[in-house]
Amino acid sequence: MGTILKTNDLTKKYDNKVVVDNLNIEIEEGEIFGLLGPNGAGKSTTMNMICNIVRPTLGNVEFLGKDFIKNRKSLIDKLGYIPQDLAIHGNLKAWENVELFTSLYGIKGAELKSRVEESLEYVGLLEKKNDYAKTFSGGMKRRLNIACAIGHHPKLLIFDEPTVGIDPQSRNFILEKIKESNKNGATVIYTSHYMEEVEAICTRIAIMDNGKIIATGTSEELKKMVVDDTSSITLEEVFLTMTGKKLRDY
Ligand SMILES: Nc1ncnc2c1ncn2[C@@H]1O[C@H](COP(=O)(O)OP(=O)(O)OP(=O)(O)O)[C@@H](O)[C@H]1O
Ligand SMILES: [Mg+2]
Repeated sequence: MGTILKTNDLTKKYDNKVVVDNLNIEIEEGEIFGLLGPNGAGKSTTMNMICNIVRPTLGNVEFLGKDFIKNRKSLIDKLGYIPQDLAIHGNLKAWENVELFTSLYGIKGAELKSRVEESLEYVGLLEKKNDYAKTFSGGMKRRLNIACAIGHHPKLLIFDEPTVGIDPQSRNFILEKIKESNKNGATVIYTSHYMEEVEAICTRIAIMDNGKIIATGTSEELKKMVVDDTSSITLEEVFLTMTGKKLRDY
């Protein structure tokens, strides 16, 4: 297994303010890679640059060994992005939402129909396929958002804070599905400010603050950077020690 995604000095400035600062990360095929950081750290801006939605001020992204901006057409269908802000249409039925997004990748006819059913089934919404998205709960909308991003069978799945503001049942369901997708062969990038989620599902974690990656490793390795006895410290305390800040307010 090789590198699936690499960022080279990835940088974004808005009005001369650097929000992503010279980011160099390398993700191996088969990983669930966690990007952990507090509000405003630059996680979504990083994901938007990785997904070719926001243009970097400097640097580039290599996806499957090729420059992603230059090879967008041939690479875009290898990626599935579940953005932080819901990208679904309330006035369309669940199946129509999934069909709309899946058809963007050139999938048609009977194949499209079966991919729509398969995606809705995967997120547990097949029985609700004829309901309008606007009637869904927060957790169901999140799950529909995921269904919209998987119908084209991407190799790399990127989740930007998929569990914020939803009920615990939907939250656990989503985390289980992410692990299942990974077992079925997808590489995953998972962005969150919930360290317990990142610790539970990620094979490797990058800690981000103020636009910079300040440390990368397994949860155990990150703890080792701060103390010898890793059983005595949580990831939250590692973050606090490294930055002098809390990840979030409780
Ligand atoms: N389009 C934009 N124009 C100007 N500033 C922006 C823009 N998008 C993001 N920013 C700023 O960049 C910084 C990083 O934002 P970003 O959304 O990437 O952080 P985040 O880590 O995803 O935060 P959160 O956990 O709240 O989602 C913030 O200070 C934000 O205000
Ligand atoms: Mg964000």
